[in-house]
Amino acid sequence: MLKQLYPACDVSRQLEGTYLALNLHQQAKQGEIFIYANYIVSLDGRIALFDAAMGEYAVPPSIANRRDWRLYQELAGQADVMLTSARYFRQLAEDKAQDLLPVGGGDKYADIKAWRKMQGLKSQPDVMVLSNSLDIPLAALEKVKDRQVIVLTSSQDVSKIENLENTGVVVKQTDEVTGQFVRQCLIDLTYRSAYMIAGPQVHATLIQDKAVNELFLTTHFTLLGGTKVSGLVDVDLDNAQSLKLKASYLDTQENQLFQRFSYV
Ligand SMILES: NC(=O)c1ccc[n+]([C@@H]2O[C@H](COP(=O)([O-])OP(=O)(O)OC[C@H]3O[C@@H](n4cnc5c(N)ncnc54)[C@H](OP(=O)(O)O)[C@@H]3O)[C@@H](O)[C@H]2O)c1
Repeated sequence: MLKQLYPACDVSRQLEGTYLALNLHQQAKQGEIFIYANYIVSLDGRIALFDAAMGEYAVPPSIANRRDWRLYQELAGQADVMLTSARYFRQLAEDKAQDLLPVGGGDKYADIKAWRKMQGLKSQPDVMVLSNSLDIPLAALEKVKDRQVIVLTSSQDVSKIENLENTGVVVKQTDEVTGQFVRQCLIDLTYRSAYMIAGPQVHATLIQDKAVNELFLTTHFTLLGGTKVSGLVDVDLDNAQSLKLKASYLDTQENQLFQRFSYV
C-alpha cells in the first residue's frame, strides 16, 4: 500500500493504478501536447552512476525496483510517444539498456496493455529520438520496428539520414534541436501525450524552452555517493527551474517517495 501525503494527507491506496488513473493522454487540448518526464533518484540526487564493468552510466540496482517499474509502466501506458536519446539506442544495441518497454510485456502488466486498448491508444507508443550525431545502430531500431520511429537531429549528414529513412524512420532536421522544436514536431505529428524517458541532456533541452509539463519523481531513500554520477539536469540552465508539488505518496514497502510536480 501507499500512503498519500499530499494533497490529501494520510490516505492509503494501492500502488497499482495510482498513475494509470491520471489520464495523461487526455491532458492536452486539441492541437497541443502534454509532455511528462520520469526519474528515479537517490537521496543524494543521482539518477545514474558510472558502471566501470559496463563502461556506461546506468541506474544502480540498489535503487531500481519493481514497484517503481510498475509506475514507470503505468506512465508509458498513457503515452502516444516516448521521447528518448540516441545514447539509449546505442546501449540497446549492446544489450546494456533497460528494457524498451513493450508496454504491458508479461502478465504483471497485461492490465496496462488492456487499458491502452480500451482507451483507443495504439498497442505500443511510438518512439522519438534526439540525436546530434545520428550514431543510431540500425540493429537497435529493429527492436522497435512495430512502432513509428522519429529522429530529431541537427546533423546534415545526408548518408546517415538516408540510411535511417530507408528503414522507415522519419527524420526531422533543424539547426539546433531545442525544446520548442521537439514540442512543435510532436504537435505537427498530432501526438497528444509524450513520455520523456531520456537522461539529463534531453531533460535540460526541454526545460530551457519550458517545453515539459510535468515531472514524476521517485526518490529512493538511499545514499549512493560516487564521483562519476549523473543527476536530473547536469548542464547549466539559463534560469533555475521551479516546480510545484501536485501529489506525494510514501511507499514504506520499498523505502521510497513518489512525487508528481508541474514545472512552473
Ligand atoms: N534514474 C532514472 O530514472 C534515469 C532515467 C533516464 C536515464 N537515466 C540514465 O541516465 C543516463 C543518460 O541517459 P541518456 O543517454 O538518455 O541521456 P541524455 O543525456 O538525455 O542524452 C544523451 C544523448 O541524447 C542526444 N541529445 C540530448 N540532447 C540533445 C539535443 N538537444 N539535440 C540533439 N541530441 C540530443 C545526444 O545524442 P548523440 O550523442 O547521438 O548526439 C546525447 O548524446 C543513462 O545511463 C541512463 O541509465 C536514468
